[in-house]
Amino acid sequence: MADLCEAALNKDGSIKGDASKPRFCCLAPTDYCMLRCKMCNKWQEPSPKPEELPSLDEWKSFIGGLRELVDPGFEMDFGGGEVLSMPGILDLVRFAKEKGFKTTMASNGYLINKELAKKIGDSGLDAVSLSLDSPRPEVHDRMRGVEGVYQHVMQAIDNLTKYAPQTKKGLCCIIMNENLDDLLSLVKWADSNVKVDWLYFMVVVQPNYSGPLTDEWRDEYKYLWPKDKIKAISVLDELIRLRQDGSKISNRIEHLRAYKAYFANPQKLVNKAKCVIGGRAISVNAYGFIQLCLFKDFIGNIRKDDIRKLWYSRDAELIREKVDQCKTNCHLLLNCCYIEDDPSLYAI
Ligand SMILES: C[S@@+](CC[C@H](N)C(=O)[O-])C[C@H]1O[C@@H](n2cnc3c(N)ncnc32)[C@H](O)[C@@H]1O
Ligand code: SF4
Ligand code: SF4
Repeated sequence: MADLCEAALNKDGSIKGDASKPRFCCLAPTDYCMLRCKMCNKWQEPSPKPEELPSLDEWKSFIGGLRELVDPGFEMDFGGGEVLSMPGILDLVRFAKEKGFKTTMASNGYLINKELAKKIGDSGLDAVSLSLDSPRPEVHDRMRGVEGVYQHVMQAIDNLTKYAPQTKKGLCCIIMNENLDDLLSLVKWADSNVKVDWLYFMVVVQPNYSGPLTDEWRDEYKYLWPKDKIKAISVLDELIRLRQDGSKISNRIEHLRAYKAYFANPQKLVNKAKCVIGGRAISVNAYGFIQLCLFKDFIGNIRKDDIRKLWYSRDAELIREKVDQCKTNCHLLLNCCYIEDDPSLYAI
């Protein structure tokens, strides 16, 4: 979980299976979030009117339609916002699981008490990725903007271990200025904790809902970007060493090297090869709009369109043509599926 490359590619970098089929699907059925993170603006979004949102039946009908396009075991990720705040979300997980999808979820862990952990276990959810940015409670809470979040994540890990034993649990940590001194101790902690199945690192990128992609975001969000570039690079060298020594870090080594290059020179990391995510990964937002690349136009809406037809539509084809020509310095590609397509890009 957590690396789209694993869902999209064979170990040698070639595309898995039938290249014309969808590779991955991410549903974000709510943008609501109870946290106030300093690196994400989703919580600032206005609340939608109830009539603007797809019903559970509309979501199910999309999931059922998608199943006809893909093979059993295809990965469907539930994200957001904080997706566990959405009424009926575990019905959707159960439905997707019964249809034969592999189901995964990204959560901040805040709501996972004993009762919810039991319901998660009952839904059959295969894996959950919990955000944890530091083993120091004060640092995690400060970045997440609410006191006590760290403690909730610890309880979520315990509750899931006890009441949802079949659901795998991983941690997702954003590398940013505030936690550079904490990353190695986080690895040590995760490696020695039998309840944690993996630890995935992301790099801090332009916050969600902060406008069009621009290099200037680092000026506005100065507190996120590592002030000490040399330190960021040497921490990544150490993470690479730990990964080689068999730690639970789940990023591929090339991926961690790309992170190093990003911190050394964030403007240089441009996707030169054809994008392996855009065009083949389906994302659906809280309003039901469907995208094949998060930075390009919608191709339809699950409330009125049938994904079985949309997938082969002219609109989808046009987006795929744009994807093939895309030269965006892509954050999505960097955090989710980085292919070492040209060594000159990551040499520092
Ligand atoms: C948008 S959140 C949704 C899931 C859930 N609310 C959470 O925080 O885990 C998905 C992932 O994006 C990460 N994220 C949020 N803002 C980010 C940023 N500016 N740069 C990199 N990752 C970010 C979160 O830490 C989380 O792991
Ligand atoms: S990163 Fe996750 S927890 Fe934080 S505000 Fe965004 S959606 Fe909420
Ligand atoms: S912006 Fe470009 S590189 Fe990024 S996912 Fe979309 S098509 Fe791919």
